[in-house]
Amino acid sequence: MNNNKILNIFNKKSVSSPPIWFLRQAGRHIPEYFSIRDQSKNFIDFCLNTDLIVQSTKLPLKYYNIDAAIVFSDILMIPWAMNRNVKFIKGLGPVMDPMIPNETEILSNIDIKKLLKPLDQALKILRPSIPKDISLIGFAGAPWTLACYMIEGKSTKDFLLTRKAAWSSNNWFNKLIDTLIDYVVDILEMQANAGADVLMIFDSWSHMIPSFFWKDFGIDPTKKIINNLRKKNILTPIIGFPFKAGSSLISYSYESGVDCLALDWTVDLKWAIENINPNIIIQGNLDPACLIDNNNNLDKSVKLILDIMKNKRHIFNVGHGLTPECKIENIKKVIDIVKNYNN
Ligand code: CP3
Repeated sequence: MNNNKILNIFNKKSVSSPPIWFLRQAGRHIPEYFSIRDQSKNFIDFCLNTDLIVQSTKLPLKYYNIDAAIVFSDILMIPWAMNRNVKFIKGLGPVMDPMIPNETEILSNIDIKKLLKPLDQALKILRPSIPKDISLIGFAGAPWTLACYMIEGKSTKDFLLTRKAAWSSNNWFNKLIDTLIDYVVDILEMQANAGADVLMIFDSWSHMIPSFFWKDFGIDPTKKIINNLRKKNILTPIIGFPFKAGSSLISYSYESGVDCLALDWTVDLKWAIENINPNIIIQGNLDPACLIDNNNNLDKSVKLILDIMKNKRHIFNVGHGLTPECKIENIKKVIDIVKNYNN
């Protein structure tokens, strides 16, 4: 019998309780993470070191009875490969050389697979070395979110330069999005072929897309990525995460082609059940902030999610990444409640 709960959900088989894993489960909330990270001279080198990728991907499995491991990398490895001089600065987050719309050349002939060979090798080591019932998840950033970082050079309040480029630099901006589509296809294909059972596309800044452009930059790039993968016979299930997209989640759920929609913590699951495409799986959506301090609402909020999603195809997760302040005991408590729940 196949006990891989996440794949069973995708294959429409029944599961006793929903599968569970956590966004950013391999990060700074686990003290051992630092001893792995500090073996490399910077974060990019960390993401290019096969052995360290393997160790950090496996780290949360030592602590938690979870149903997936997400490979350790970063969505900004594509801008890094495109020579944007990506750096991660303590306290500030990622920075890179900003692209000037209509001026900066868009490098479209980069061999991303070659540059990210350590990621490919790590997945090839990971898949046979983790239990079969645990899914291995590969990922990439969505083109809009990557373009946001590449044009602004960092996170900004309202991504005005990127929105301006979308309105007024059509040819250049469309070329950037199309180039990013190709690179995302390349690295997702590589990860699926190397052993990833599930792929996830993070559109962390989707809530910055003007509604006028939702279809062009929120839905269509993901749709093209998925169509291209399917044409290459990559049939791996895909989770889409258009972060805080609000009412635009509805059209995304029907049109993007994702198999599963990851919901952020602001989404009311009852609303989701009434409005989201009923043929796709829902992942989410506990607020990671409730895992920081002890609070009386933790049990209640986990059970509420379980009750609303009972008998539906659901993967339990947080509605955005775990933060460094999240407590291991609180995460273990959530896992216990979910594993002991009878669907
Ligand atoms: O555990 C995992 O989820 C696996 C690895 C993973 C990382 N980044 C490692 C990482 C994944 C899936 C990502 C995705 C990612 N990276 C996203 C999409 C998800 C989201 O959070 O919206 C985004 C926007 C990024 C860009 C990025 N990388 C930022 C903004 C930062 C700095 C601040 C932060 O959120 O931690 C990073 C650095 C980063 N990527 C860290 C980790 C573990 C922290 C590095 C450190 O300080 O040690």
